[in-house]
Amino acid sequence: MLRHTRIGLSEAHRTTLTALLNEDLVMMTDLYLQTKLSHWNVIGPHFIAYHELFDDIADHVLEAIDTMAERVTALGGAVNTSVQTVAGTTQLSAWSGEHRQDRAVIARLADLIGQVGNAIRSGIDQAAELEDADTADLFTEVSRQLDKDLWFLEAHID
Ligand SMILES: [Fe+2]
Repeated sequence: MLRHTRIGLSEAHRTTLTALLNEDLVMMTDLYLQTKLSHWNVIGPHFIAYHELFDDIADHVLEAIDTMAERVTALGGAVNTSVQTVAGTTQLSAWSGEHRQDRAVIARLADLIGQVGNAIRSGIDQAAELEDADTADLFTEVSRQLDKDLWFLEAHID
């Protein structure tokens, strides 16, 4: 049940849009924590560079989470990213604790960011079809930033 809003989008469209945003928020929340795990646990000869790079990426992810969550509430929905929901529904593989050497951590984080960026990108056209150019724009902005973060990671290992 959505909150009433003066935004001129149908309740059916807003229901689908908020569900889509919540699905992406689950992955982004998981990605945020796994980026911080990379920041904390990475080891290797260039530790400080990677430690700082991962923190920059975590900041971008957290900022995007806030903007996406507030789009959910603006559309009349509720944000549903409790730890239990995230753990039960995320599509990302779990941090195992085995990947601590810098190249392995970077490769793994690149895989996760690629996965999340592609998932969010796939929502751009869907949001546009639901007549919500604003959410389509948000997905565009978030996936573009993830692509840039992915480039920074790939440039270290390719
Ligand atoms: Fe830190």
